[in-house]
Amino acid sequence: MGKDTKQKLGFCEGNKCACLMFLVVVGAIAAVVCVTLLVEDIRDIYDHGENNSSLKWWQKTIIYQIYPRSFQDSDGDGIGDLKGIISRLDYFEYIHVDTIWLSPFFESPMKDFGYDVSNYTAIAKVFGTMEDFDELMKQAKKRGIRVIIDFVPNHSSTEHDWFNRSRHAKDDKDPFWDFYVWNDGITLANGTRVPPNNWQSVFGGPAWELDSVRDMFYYHAYLTSQADLNYRNPKVLEKIGEVIRFWMTKGVDGLRIDAIPHLFEAKDTSLNLPEPEPGEGPDLYLYTQNQPEIFDVVKQWRKIIDEFGSDRFLLAEAFGISREDRRKYYEAGSVPFYFQLIKAKARCCATAACLQGIIQEGLDISGSWPNFVIGNHDNLRIADSMGQKYADAMNLMLLTLPGTPTSYYGEELGMKGGDYKGLPPKDPKAITSGNLNNSRDSERNPMQWNSSTNAGFTSGSPWLPITKNTDYKNVNVESMKTDNTSSLNLYRRLAEIRQLPAFRTTNIVFPDKVGKVLVYERYDDQTSYLIVINVDSSPQRLDLRAGDITTGVRIFSTKSVIEERIELGNVFLQPGEGVIIRMDD
Ligand code: GLC
Ligand code: MG
Repeated sequence: MGKDTKQKLGFCEGNKCACLMFLVVVGAIAAVVCVTLLVEDIRDIYDHGENNSSLKWWQKTIIYQIYPRSFQDSDGDGIGDLKGIISRLDYFEYIHVDTIWLSPFFESPMKDFGYDVSNYTAIAKVFGTMEDFDELMKQAKKRGIRVIIDFVPNHSSTEHDWFNRSRHAKDDKDPFWDFYVWNDGITLANGTRVPPNNWQSVFGGPAWELDSVRDMFYYHAYLTSQADLNYRNPKVLEKIGEVIRFWMTKGVDGLRIDAIPHLFEAKDTSLNLPEPEPGEGPDLYLYTQNQPEIFDVVKQWRKIIDEFGSDRFLLAEAFGISREDRRKYYEAGSVPFYFQLIKAKARCCATAACLQGIIQEGLDISGSWPNFVIGNHDNLRIADSMGQKYADAMNLMLLTLPGTPTSYYGEELGMKGGDYKGLPPKDPKAITSGNLNNSRDSERNPMQWNSSTNAGFTSGSPWLPITKNTDYKNVNVESMKTDNTSSLNLYRRLAEIRQLPAFRTTNIVFPDKVGKVLVYERYDDQTSYLIVINVDSSPQRLDLRAGDITTGVRIFSTKSVIEERIELGNVFLQPGEGVIIRMDD
């Protein structure tokens, strides 16, 4: 039964709306609403089970990002570790998450908390041992949990052996001579050495650093201790290829490629960043981001992981990219993260129209597989950026959009980030840029497991304290498990609802006119679901009748666990409330 959904969503408009609204309100007062008091597991609501067997595992999953440092400490040093993660694997069964992505746990001096790798095939002591990693893989597989790991190819730590060899290399006969992006720079008349150009580092300041050993400048997109590898050198590709094979052999299911837009810099280092046009901000990374050579390398990496089976997953941390580049990442065999929802509040106040626009842009990928993200270790938690009131609604949105959703740990609790104002920042980005507003400490706060000291994260002193504002006595896994209406249990039910066939499709339709409430319909050839989310700050009443469909069953609400038959002509939502309505035919 192919549905003309566009027509179905001819929602109420203008004066006609006001008029209808009045009638509906009056009508609704008299209406007897059929309430099903049975708070049953949503699983019983659907009986289709797994269909759509042509989908790959990563198209059916929720990806859950773990920042290992902050997830669970097992040895009391205040820093999360692999053993800690192992001890929490059952939790993923509880929330119906079957893919975890681990931020870096490799050997590292931790200047950027692991995004500065000093040995790509060793585990940082603070996180455990290779045996711990193997055990984690074994335990995850046992539970049907897929494991994606972070892969940080753009730069290594300057403490990496490759960098050490490169800085000591005497000439180009040394295989490590060109392993990084070296440059003589310019010697001024007064003898001062300056960088070859004015390229900027992402964390602030010049992107070139004079190395006293080699007496040359090296390029770094991020910290001075994160030197960029030279991808114009085939030997680098070879070595990095070995790293990929190493982890694939360990059985990891996919890679999240870090900072991929920075992989190449313009060949011509005499190019200087131009002065910005009047009224426009500077394009700080014109020559150091989104260079065309990237895609060929992604293709090569795809080929390598295909040696291990075509269903291994490649996710690209591709921020700030054009529509065209997004297409190229897909074409190269990766899925580029779509980050715009994270920025919704800052970008356009996260109104319904704003969110709808961002979602539509995210879906504008000519048949490629979509993905959405609302939080990560580089951005404020949703409860902080959008406000606590909207946290559940944003999970509802994330988990009912087409494609693969990525959840950041703690977001399922609607957890706030730590309040570290007044404390010296740990985040190197805040330190180097000198801008405390830049600090990523807040969203890296420890996971809240229970109401004991330090929220059950550690028996020691946590590397980032648990602060008052996060209300860990109430906002924690253990307490929330016992409350049907908690954010955690809402998330859990949403994770079940996602498995309904309609949500496995990429079918989605929006109303022609957007009001203050975000509305979309997800459907397959059997069933249609309306997702209705009040992102406004005042209560909203809606008429959602579509053609002759006037009733439906509210199968989910962020405010109630009661399943209820409702009149579509009179849907009332509090600010931050979101519902899923199964439409009657
Ligand atoms: C990515 C990571 C970020 C890190 C940076 C440098 O953007 O997400 O946390 O600081 O790369 O590796
Ligand atoms: Mg530890």
